Amino acid sequence: MNEGERLTELAKRRGFYFPAADAYGGAAGFWTYGPQGAALKDNIEDAWRDRFVVQAGHQEISAPDVMPEPVFEASGHLDGFDDMIVECGECGATHRADHIVEDNTDIEEAESLPNEEVMEIIASNDIPCPSCQASLADEPVDNFNLMFETNIGPGSSSPGYLRPETAQGIFVEFPQLSEYARNQLPFGVAQIGKAYRNEISPRKSLVRVREFTQAELEHFVDPEEDEPPLSTVEDVTLPLYSGERQQADDGSVEQMTVGEAVETGVVTSDWVAYYLGIARDWYERIGIDMDRFRFRQHLPGELAHYASDCWDAEAEIDGDWIEITGFAYRGDYDLQKHAEYSGDDYTVFKQYDEPITVERPTVDPEMSYLGPEFGGDAQAVADALEQLAADDPDAFDGEEVSVDLDGESVTVPVDQTGFSVEEITENGEHITPHVVEPSFGVGRLIYTVLAHAYTEDEVDNETRTYLELPPEQAPTTVGVFPLMDRDGLGEYARQLAEGLRQAGHSVTYDDSGAIGRRYRRQDEIGTPYCLTVDYESLGDPEGDADPENLQTDTVTIRERDSTAQKRVSIDGLAETVERLVGGELTFDDL
Ligand code: GAP
Repeated sequence: MNEGERLTELAKRRGFYFPAADAYGGAAGFWTYGPQGAALKDNIEDAWRDRFVVQAGHQEISAPDVMPEPVFEASGHLDGFDDMIVECGECGATHRADHIVEDNTDIEEAESLPNEEVMEIIASNDIPCPSCQASLADEPVDNFNLMFETNIGPGSSSPGYLRPETAQGIFVEFPQLSEYARNQLPFGVAQIGKAYRNEISPRKSLVRVREFTQAELEHFVDPEEDEPPLSTVEDVTLPLYSGERQQADDGSVEQMTVGEAVETGVVTSDWVAYYLGIARDWYERIGIDMDRFRFRQHLPGELAHYASDCWDAEAEIDGDWIEITGFAYRGDYDLQKHAEYSGDDYTVFKQYDEPITVERPTVDPEMSYLGPEFGGDAQAVADALEQLAADDPDAFDGEEVSVDLDGESVTVPVDQTGFSVEEITENGEHITPHVVEPSFGVGRLIYTVLAHAYTEDEVDNETRTYLELPPEQAPTTVGVFPLMDRDGLGEYARQLAEGLRQAGHSVTYDDSGAIGRRYRRQDEIGTPYCLTVDYESLGDPEGDADPENLQTDTVTIRERDSTAQKRVSIDGLAETVERLVGGELTFDDL
């Protein structure tokens, strides 16, 4: 079994995740998180919220999953959110054309190639249909839009779509959100929520699915003035796989600090570099192995329709690199588009430090001249003159000025236009903010964290499997076991478990089977600590402990990774566990 297969088997057996609606045959690309998976997901989302919302001083919102069609007309998803599809003429199976090219050749980022080229590569390499092995050589490679369509209300007059990214729920509400931020840039708005993509070929369990959770931050900045606090991350070392490196023959990842990446221009946007630095440390916090991790720059053909530069965080599993996060500089693309399509105001008013005096060309046309001259078109001519004064005041330098009226040029004497240049005082200007976007896929984070945590070792001459999860992320923090459920041991352990739960810990009580088996069960879900209640805890009613060293009201605590055990007092145990989980106390120092 490879890493992915081992993980999927463990995930199903131990309640992390499994195919949804299996009783009815299921549907590819939909997964249910079981009790351990849902808890791990919550922990990862909480850690994300802690770093990218709370510590960063940003705000979080929750927008609807379904939005009306005009939102996606404006965002460009209706026209441009496509993948390449090829359909087998023999069995009718559909496949992602770029993926089958990558799977069958040395080409790495086939997504960046035009459809015709992908079609030629399929033909020249005689790539067969992965389902039935028939030739795909003459099959066309088409675009397939990934959005799920629905109808809002009865009938089909109001089409809607399940959002393909949570981001649009933030962009579309910008006029409100900017007010809440008192129109002060920079400000960030985050959202953790579902996104939906009708993927052509879902694969690798949580890696490519049709419904998934994104954690996205849209940071709105003034491109002229706002700078990220680079000094806070400048010494963080990033494993960078730039576009240039990818295209070089011996291209390899280069390690450089955030400061160096900015200075040498390898990462062109200071904001993107800043977020790469923040994120790198966060990935380590949640348990991603930094020896199996890199940031890869998008090649030009790969860039999303909205992005001018983009880096992906990628994690290695089974020799494949999986994109876990995209860091994009989206410029003012989204806000401009929503302004254009909705007619609403997607700008912020930028107040100057000092008012400035500017010259403003204006016209005050003589209607007693325009009326007889242009009849019903007089107002249109006046409007055209006003526009021309704003766009090209030099046009009024001569004796006559020409404007376009429905494709026809008409001429007006300048002395009939009332042209003048006024001096006015301005306190500020309206600008459209730019957007920097770190966009995390929560399912892929979970998959990576689990794959990188999966460890096997030998304990008591047996192979043991355990998940080396950081205690903060582990779905269950403590396992509580009575040695046996008799002589009051069970009651004592249940009370201990209840006390720890009341103190906020995630606790599993288990009294079934041999203690060794119970430890193994907890090891497999990554529980960092187990507490065992034995006769000594109860004051040694059996009378076989050394009376000199009797430690009533103590339990053994076992550490997952080392399997070492110590005796600890139950006094203040909840706090001890909290300090262990939070890293303020080490097991050795107990
Ligand atoms: N708002 C930007 C955006 O959506 P993206 O690169 O398309 O960018 C962001 O998606 C992240 O969402 C990816 O890095 C990945 O982790 C996750 N993601 C995208 N498509 C996915 C899918 N079909 N299944 C699971 N996760 C996916």
